[in-house]
Amino acid sequence: MKFFVDTADTADIKALAESGLLDGVTTNPSLIAKSGRKILDVVAEICAMVPGPVSAEVAATDYDGMMREAAVLQKIADNVCVKLPLTPDGLRACKTLTGDGVMTNVTLCFSAAQALIAAKAGATFVSPFVGRLDDLGQDGMELIADIVQIYDNYPALTTEVLVASVRHPIHVVQAAKLGAHVATLPPNVLRMLYSHPLTDKGLAAFLKDWAATGQTIA
Ligand code: E4P
Repeated sequence: MKFFVDTADTADIKALAESGLLDGVTTNPSLIAKSGRKILDVVAEICAMVPGPVSAEVAATDYDGMMREAAVLQKIADNVCVKLPLTPDGLRACKTLTGDGVMTNVTLCFSAAQALIAAKAGATFVSPFVGRLDDLGQDGMELIADIVQIYDNYPALTTEVLVASVRHPIHVVQAAKLGAHVATLPPNVLRMLYSHPLTDKGLAAFLKDWAATGQTIA
């Protein structure tokens, strides 16, 4: 499973990229707004730090506007992945961009039917939002299971399932068990994947015992 980080905070991305475990980055208009920076500057900086796909979202809602914005975003770097909303115009733009060899991420997916149509439009990634469904009292993971099953039924569909709106490590584990290709995680959730209190406790005990030996490894 690939791990993307869902942020436009370049300090966070730099630190996580140094771990060597980061496969890509996703941003959205809200995350760009939170960064307080210009989209072209921040996406360029991210693309230089992370070689994998970096999703940058169009703000236009009509086909022509999306295509104009996509052309600007594509010029930033080869690893820009143009993020498009799951609307008729977004899917039309997805189809055109895919035909031109551009990476695409179709976002704001909340149903299996939407995921199927995004795959037919040739999306590189589809982003189902599990946390926002959970917030409504629905089960976001059921959607992931449905999409994975549907895509598996049709090997010609090459779209990767990019689990988005992830809120905690259990989402990541469940998505991995279902065979989702990618999870995009807020930085805090990515860091939580490392954590277990027994790891901390065990390490402290090992270090204490080691110090008592007076040895060094050299
Ligand atoms: C995905 O690409 C989105 O940017 C993101 O995962 C949305 O997450 P949220 O529901 O926490 O805003």
